[in-house]
Amino acid sequence: MPSTSLPTIQADDEWSQLRAVIVGRAANSCFPSEPLHMIQATMPEQYHGHFQPNSHFPKYVLQKADAELDQLANVLQQDGIKVYRPDDVDWYAVGGYTAAMPRDGLITVGNTIIEAPFSWRSRKREIDLAYSGILTELASDGHLTIVRAPKIVGTDTIYDDVGKPQGGLVDGKYPWAVNNSRPAFDAADFMRFGKVLIGQYSNVTNAKGVEYLRACVPDGYTVEMLEVDDPHAMHIDATILPLKRGLLVYNPLRTSETALRRHSVLHDWELHPYPFVPKKRDSPPLFMTSEWLCMNVLSISETKVVVEEKDVEFAEWIRQFGIEPILLPLQHVHSIGGSFHCATVDLVRDCGGS
Ligand code: NVA
Repeated sequence: MPSTSLPTIQADDEWSQLRAVIVGRAANSCFPSEPLHMIQATMPEQYHGHFQPNSHFPKYVLQKADAELDQLANVLQQDGIKVYRPDDVDWYAVGGYTAAMPRDGLITVGNTIIEAPFSWRSRKREIDLAYSGILTELASDGHLTIVRAPKIVGTDTIYDDVGKPQGGLVDGKYPWAVNNSRPAFDAADFMRFGKVLIGQYSNVTNAKGVEYLRACVPDGYTVEMLEVDDPHAMHIDATILPLKRGLLVYNPLRTSETALRRHSVLHDWELHPYPFVPKKRDSPPLFMTSEWLCMNVLSISETKVVVEEKDVEFAEWIRQFGIEPILLPLQHVHSIGGSFHCATVDLVRDCGGS
C-alpha cells in the first residue's frame, strides 16, 4: 500500500471517532504457561489445570473465535475504519499464547505506539512475531514514533522472590505475582483520557513498569495510578470504561467514586457504577477472565459502541446515555482472554481538543 494512504497515527482517548484499528487473530492460540503462582493470582480457579506448556485451547473455540474476529473486522471496515490484522503465528511451536489480545501489548499515546514490557515469559516475543509487519508498515508514517520494549539479556528476574512486599504502597496493597526488579506492564492496565493516562498496579504491572511508561509517553502526557481493590488485578478494562468525554462507567466491586474523583481529569465527569452483577456462564468457558468482560467494549465513537451480543443487559443500560450498542458475537474470543477492547488496538482516533 502506498504510504500516502496510511492514516496518521494519533489516538489520545478511548471514545473519539475511530479511524484505524488492529483486530487480533485467534488461530493456534495456546494456554499461556506461566509459574503456578501467577496462574493462581490471575486466572479463574476451575481452569488452573489448563495452563500447562503446549496446551491448546479447544479447536472449536479457536475456529469460532476467528470467525468472530473476522466479522468484527468486516463490520469496522464497512464503517470506513481501516483495519490491520496480525500475522499468523504457530504459538504452539514458539511456546507463546495468542495474537487475539493485541491491547495487552501495544498502546497508542498521541503519535507514539508503545510496546509493553510484558511480565509473562510466554508473551515476550508476541509483538515481534505477530505485529512486526503492521509496525513496519506504520513506521513509514514519518510522524509516528514506535517505542519497542527493552530486550532482556540474561536471566529475567521478574519472578524471583515473589510474594515478598515490594517496598511500599507505590505498588498498591497486594503481594503481586511479580516483583519490581525490572520494568513490567501490560498496556491493558492503562486507559487514555487525553493527556492523562489512568492505570492500575496489578499482577503484571509493577512500579518500575509505570516509571518506564512515564518515560515513553510523548512530552505533555502524564500517567496516574487509580486505587483499585482487586487482588487478582490484571488489565483495567473490565474495571473502568470511559464511554464518552465526561461519562465513565465503573465496576463498583473493584473501585469507587472516591478513588476516581482523586484524578483531576475526572473531577467534573459523570461517574456511574454498573448497577448489575453480570451473569456467570460456563459455555463457552471463561478460561481466563471474569464475567465483567461485558464492560470490555470497543467505542467506535461517542455514540456507537460494540457490545457482545449476549450482553443485552449492559447494551440496554448504556442506551440511557445516548449510546447505540452495536451487537456482535465474541463469546469464543472471551474464552481466550478478553472482549472487544482486549482484541483491538486503536491506532487513529479523531481526538481534537482532548
Ligand atoms: N482480568 C480482568 C479484566 C479482563 C479484561 C477480569 O477478568 O475481569
